[in-house]
Amino acid sequence: MAYRLTMVGTGYLGATTSACMAELGFEVLGVDVDAEKIARLQAGDLPIHEPGLEEILRRNLAAGRLRFTTSFEEAAAFGDVHFLCVGTPQKAGEYGADVSYLDAAIEALAPHLQRECLVVGKSTVPVGTAQRLADKLVRLAPIGAGAELAWNPEFLREGYAVQDTLQPDRIVLGVASDKAEKVMREVYASMLEAGTPMVITDYPTAELVKVAANAFLATKISFINAMAEVCEAAHADVKQLSQALSYDDRIGGKFLNAGLGFGGGCLPKDIRAFMARAGELGADQALTFLREVDAINMRRRARMVDLARELAGGSFRGCSLTVLGAAFKPNSDDIRDSPALDVAVKISEQGGRVTVYDPVAQENARRAHPHLSYGESALEAARGAHVVLLLTEWREFIELDPEALGSVVASRKMVDGRNALDAEVWRNAGWHYRALGRP
Ligand SMILES: NC(=O)c1ccc[n+]([C@@H]2O[C@H](COP(=O)([O-])OP(=O)(O)OC[C@H]3O[C@@H](n4cnc5c(N)ncnc54)[C@H](O)[C@@H]3O)[C@@H](O)[C@H]2O)c1
Repeated sequence: MAYRLTMVGTGYLGATTSACMAELGFEVLGVDVDAEKIARLQAGDLPIHEPGLEEILRRNLAAGRLRFTTSFEEAAAFGDVHFLCVGTPQKAGEYGADVSYLDAAIEALAPHLQRECLVVGKSTVPVGTAQRLADKLVRLAPIGAGAELAWNPEFLREGYAVQDTLQPDRIVLGVASDKAEKVMREVYASMLEAGTPMVITDYPTAELVKVAANAFLATKISFINAMAEVCEAAHADVKQLSQALSYDDRIGGKFLNAGLGFGGGCLPKDIRAFMARAGELGADQALTFLREVDAINMRRRARMVDLARELAGGSFRGCSLTVLGAAFKPNSDDIRDSPALDVAVKISEQGGRVTVYDPVAQENARRAHPHLSYGESALEAARGAHVVLLLTEWREFIELDPEALGSVVASRKMVDGRNALDAEVWRNAGWHYRALGRP
């Protein structure tokens, strides 16, 4: 049977999954409470920057396999499998995750569920959420136990979301029945045939896999950034240190590049929510190390500001600084908890005149931080700058010509927040080059 799918929540995750599942041949209906977003998606205008996704969106809209709506009634009548892709941000003023959008999604969808269906959670949640939502679903759905819940955490990376969705490295599925497993095996049949490993488990294990993966990645990044702190104190070079470590295949080189650290809509809030949930479960000691992982990460931002101030001559007063990058990482327009913008704002608060440039996150940054200045290109943003900071490693910044950039700045001072430039090349071109964790 060709199941009809809905995606409840059409943000970074839901828009990607909607278009990619339609690309696989499913009929897909995307649902969101944000009418403006739905109108844009329905018009083939992707509200986010994600390489390759807009073409897939347009192709599948045109083929009639993909539609978008704000009507939960329509979604309930349409779908055999409903994916939950709504946000689970950090609660204001505390570490825990705000899962109220998931509750709201179930409350909006369930009362219309008149026929058998599977509801599949994809959002990242505190362990225990799936069981609670499963009970709520059965309670609110007219079909009762005919509406079942499964949990299928998502591992896609922004910037590679299409590839990660169509060719995931694994599928993790928390189910409460063989029937749910059977349905999901059909939904993911093409990926399973291609050899994608699938782990079938219970709800809590499935929920935990996602946060454990993010905790591991965050730890790896903070590990090398902690080494960078020691390198700074010992006048050693973290870039060479990490290269040497990477040849050990038990360690590997991925996520081992010292720099400004992690940000975005996932890692920071996920490790905090994980700590908060472990505390509720009485297992807080197991995760106290994540507090340190978070602290190391946040210290890098403060250190970046210190380094820029040092290059500015001890104070930002009267100083023009250019921040290259606003997105939390390259190939994305996502500025949620962006280290680059955090540093830009801190410098501005300390009296620096900051001009930001980002190839795609510029408009999001401008909306969030209208008090900062913005340039239309890297060179324009750098005109007259006393210090340039490279804070998101977009390819176009890595490929900047030190001479061309040097001809527009007021002084050749570069803080490379991502250890992305060739220090020797920049120093040979007369730049005072500084990076985290390097002499
Ligand atoms: N962005 C990623 O790369 C990524 C990767 C893996 C997992 N996740 C997880 O996926 C979830 C979604 O993340 P995102 O980045 O797509 O967030 P997002 O903020 O981009 O999108 C969330 C969407 O949900 C919509 N929404 C909110 N309440 C709703 C409701 N009651 N009914 C329908 N729609 C509703 C919002 O309008 C928004 O469009 C989070 O739990 C996140 O941790 C995200």
